[in-house]
Amino acid sequence: MPRVLTGITPSGTLHIGNYFGAMRPAIELQAGGDAYYFIADYHSMTVLTDPAGRRAYTRGIALDWLACGLDPAKAVFWVQSDVPEVCELTWLIGSLTPMGLLERAHSYKDKLAKGIAPNFGLFAYPVLMAADILLYNTHVVPVGKDQKQHLEMTRDIAIKFNLTYGECLVVPEERIADDVAVIPGLDGQKMSKSYGNTIEIFGDEKALRKKIMGLVMDSRTPQEPKPDADKNLAVQLLKLVAPADVAADYENRLRAGGLGYGDLKKGLFEHYWNHFAPYRTRRAELVGNPDYVDQVLRDGAGRARAVAAQTLARVRTACGIR
Ligand code: ADP
Ligand code: TRP
Repeated sequence: MPRVLTGITPSGTLHIGNYFGAMRPAIELQAGGDAYYFIADYHSMTVLTDPAGRRAYTRGIALDWLACGLDPAKAVFWVQSDVPEVCELTWLIGSLTPMGLLERAHSYKDKLAKGIAPNFGLFAYPVLMAADILLYNTHVVPVGKDQKQHLEMTRDIAIKFNLTYGECLVVPEERIADDVAVIPGLDGQKMSKSYGNTIEIFGDEKALRKKIMGLVMDSRTPQEPKPDADKNLAVQLLKLVAPADVAADYENRLRAGGLGYGDLKKGLFEHYWNHFAPYRTRRAELVGNPDYVDQVLRDGAGRARAVAAQTLARVRTACGIR
């Protein structure tokens, strides 16, 4: 049975790009019975220096995952730093990782281009991510398209390690769903918390309605036929949150002419809001039951740590450390 693993960094509030790009595919895969999902709080160190913020986002993401359907009876779910072995593996594999490989990382180059002062953590981030994956003998990693290069680097690192010290790491593969590879944000660019163009999974109804009704459309009149209806941002988002026939109906009406952008956006908001309604209820229940959430994360950390200890022992022996 292939082992599936993915992580989400607690550096902000989760949006529907995270949900459709990473969480939903992961939740679908948990039925396979060997799923490992974690909250990457060590990763948040490179982007966040507020301890209270880190704690709050970590907790918030735990609630989000559980509310959206992560089932602790099927998936191992934990906070990355509860298994500090990952830092040791980062060093062991990092010592074999060529500088050139890290220098070519898009995420690093993008941050440099934006004028962010680089630090070691930002540079070493793909090695920590590789350690996350390799520590748990992962076969498949469901992620968004933006993480593809990090998976290639993970494979390169694992192969080099195995060639140097003998076969002891599993070489993983990424899984990127084509239809949801890049969820567009409110401005049509990739939805990302760094671009301020997000639709949150959970949030205040009024604020979210305002965001969605504020989507910028063109100046064509409602009556005008729109042959490019499939490119319309609201239609694209509607396809994610509404049943297929409903979304197709909106698209056809827009194409034919007669559907105004205001009505389209209203429809988008209603379907978005209803899509997440059951998860909203579940999340409120979880907020009222903090002991349960703590218990889930504690159990998850225990199970993850048992696997981590075995891998690390194997790797240490292979390297000649003890
Ligand atoms: P952000 O860009 O908001 O900082 P992260 O980089 O924390 O998001 O992404 C967490 C997970 O969600 C990753 O697997 C990533 O690929 C996925 N993801 C984020 N944004 C999108 C998007 N717009 N479309 C599809 N997947 C996304
Ligand atoms: N780097 C990923 C992101 O920004 C989060 C992450 C950390 C991750 N470690 C991982 C994803 C291991 C998959 C596997 O989205």
